[in-house]
Amino acid sequence: MVTRRRMIGAALATGGGVLLVRTTLRPAPSAATTAAAKDAGHAHPAGAAAPDPGPDAGPALAEKFTTALPLPPVLSPVSTDGGADTYAVTMLRSYARVLPGRRTEVLTYNGAFPGPVIRARSGRPVVVRQTNLLDDPVSVHLHGSAVPVDSDGGPMNLLGAGATRTYTYPNDQPHASLWFHDHAHHLESEHVYRGLAGTYLLTDATEASLPLPAGRYDLPIALRDARFDTAGNLVYRMDDAEGRATVLANGRPWPKVDVAARRYRIRLLNSSNLRFFSLRLADGGPITQIGSDGGLLERPHTTDTVDLSPGERADVVIDFSRYRPGTSVVLTNSMPPGPAEHIGQVLRFDVGRPAPDPSSVPDRLRTLPPLGPVARERTIVLKVEEGGAGVAPLGLIDGRQYDPARVDAAVAFGTSEIWTVHNANTDIPHNFHLHLVQFRVLQRNGAPPGPEEGGLKDTVRLMPGESVRLQATFDSYRGRYPYHCHLLDHSAMGMMAQMEIA
Ligand code: C2O
Ligand code: CU
Repeated sequence: MVTRRRMIGAALATGGGVLLVRTTLRPAPSAATTAAAKDAGHAHPAGAAAPDPGPDAGPALAEKFTTALPLPPVLSPVSTDGGADTYAVTMLRSYARVLPGRRTEVLTYNGAFPGPVIRARSGRPVVVRQTNLLDDPVSVHLHGSAVPVDSDGGPMNLLGAGATRTYTYPNDQPHASLWFHDHAHHLESEHVYRGLAGTYLLTDATEASLPLPAGRYDLPIALRDARFDTAGNLVYRMDDAEGRATVLANGRPWPKVDVAARRYRIRLLNSSNLRFFSLRLADGGPITQIGSDGGLLERPHTTDTVDLSPGERADVVIDFSRYRPGTSVVLTNSMPPGPAEHIGQVLRFDVGRPAPDPSSVPDRLRTLPPLGPVARERTIVLKVEEGGAGVAPLGLIDGRQYDPARVDAAVAFGTSEIWTVHNANTDIPHNFHLHLVQFRVLQRNGAPPGPEEGGLKDTVRLMPGESVRLQATFDSYRGRYPYHCHLLDHSAMGMMAQMEIA
């Protein structure tokens, strides 16, 4: 169990390095902070240089379990010609009704907070024409996908303010619940926090042939935390895990979810910058996990707890027919930091009447490809190194900060490798995300992983001191792709590296 006793400092991009903003001390913003924010292209009214907004006003403004959970809009293609679905998306500043009686300025894809859903099918490419009407450069990354490097949306592959570019997603991979989000180096943390994240549901014949709950009984739910001022503005500060006491599900605080008394498939995404969730129904009732980052597990697994670190997904089935109509059951979170009366609750399911339910969860969901022979092993060490007073903390992988000009891992195309990833911090959690591949977790701390980690993964949790052994096969595309901690403040501090597949 993690307790983040101390806050690590935070870094803002500057011309030549990083600058410390120590959130525990709540310093008045320095001239240097303001200059750095300007250098980095920030012009946000409530940016890092704003005066101390006081504690999170979200819990006082939002009465729990009163707002209905919204479902994000599903995008329609602008064209289905040429064997591909083409979408047009505009990134723009907008306002969302997040808190009652307030409007919240957000950064959006097509005005939606959280971002829209793109539905795709394996074997049919998706083309997304992205236009950036924001003031900052952006980069759109489709998390969990195997795509050519030009469309990967890496940290340096920027789309400038006012520019348009086309991302092509071949969808030459099995079904999976993916998501897309901003990845512009040093800006990704604030951009994602302010709303640049959306859902991408890729399906295939294997998944479609199963009798799982579908249609209106298949709910994508993105969970995150946030901090608000009394006017309802999002407050962004680097490394502000402890300041964010509001839990948002699909962009609304502690919503209620009206469900019929039958089975639902729920696709959970943790889109937080820093927060880990450990989710449980308040009555301890069973949750059937059927999928993880890279699609369905081989077999369903029944549990009472689902853990999600930032960027991870879990597909679960909950059978609400076991509750009497009129019953309410809260989805709880036991992961600190934050006041338990707020961050301990996520949303509430309000169970209504029974509904016909032809769905079921088969014992066998899919067969994963066998793990091939291993060409090479590597060790990766993640560490946030705190400086002394006034010295910036560094986000390090193998002792080094991200350098886009450096290749950290030269991988031979077509081979499979085992990476042992270690969190060298004793009180700071991390996780590990590889672009381009879905990997398999072989071991966690020397033991076989639990069933929830037995499927395809692209992001894996690393609590303080933990080690994970994973195997990845690099047979889809060549080029330079990043790997990093998906606590976005850590990647913004440099906890990111680069592999070159050649
Ligand atoms: Cu979801 Cu490189 O990130
Ligand atoms: Cu980290």
